[in-house]
Amino acid sequence: MGRRGWMGLAWGSFTAATAGCLAATGRFMFPNVLNEPPQQFTIGFPDEYGEGVDERWKDRFGVWVVRTPFDDYHETSGFYALLVTCTHLGCTPNWLSAESKFKCPCHGSGFRPTGINFEGPAPRPLERARIVLAEDGQIMIDKARKFQEELGQWTDPEAFLGV
Ligand code: FES
Repeated sequence: MGRRGWMGLAWGSFTAATAGCLAATGRFMFPNVLNEPPQQFTIGFPDEYGEGVDERWKDRFGVWVVRTPFDDYHETSGFYALLVTCTHLGCTPNWLSAESKFKCPCHGSGFRPTGINFEGPAPRPLERARIVLAEDGQIMIDKARKFQEELGQWTDPEAFLGV
């Protein structure tokens, strides 16, 4: 290869390397934005919910909303929000309404509608999330604040919304 050829090759390599650097810098300046669901959200008004486990926010927000006529921890009727994360290794259980239980497809853990574990390897109940009334009267859930039954936290006033 002649001198021109080598120069062309060197110039081409330099250009390619520069372009690569610019592309990397560009990616650094404009990172991919992760559209994670918000931790805090409103889910409508209490009278929009019937009794039992409501699955409408499972996929979007990662919670089951449960309306109960009587909660053992607060001794009244109302709502609690269960996180959809199995306390064994983090899979997402399914709600089996015919059997009135949450069943994890990974290793078979079962949870009562309250979130209490009763079969399989899960070592503790599902976690509940903060649930309160927003100023406009809608139910507001805040997943940044979690309550664990085994730590005695389900009796916290914000772990349950009396209605
Ligand atoms: S992750 Fe649910 S039973 Fe193992």
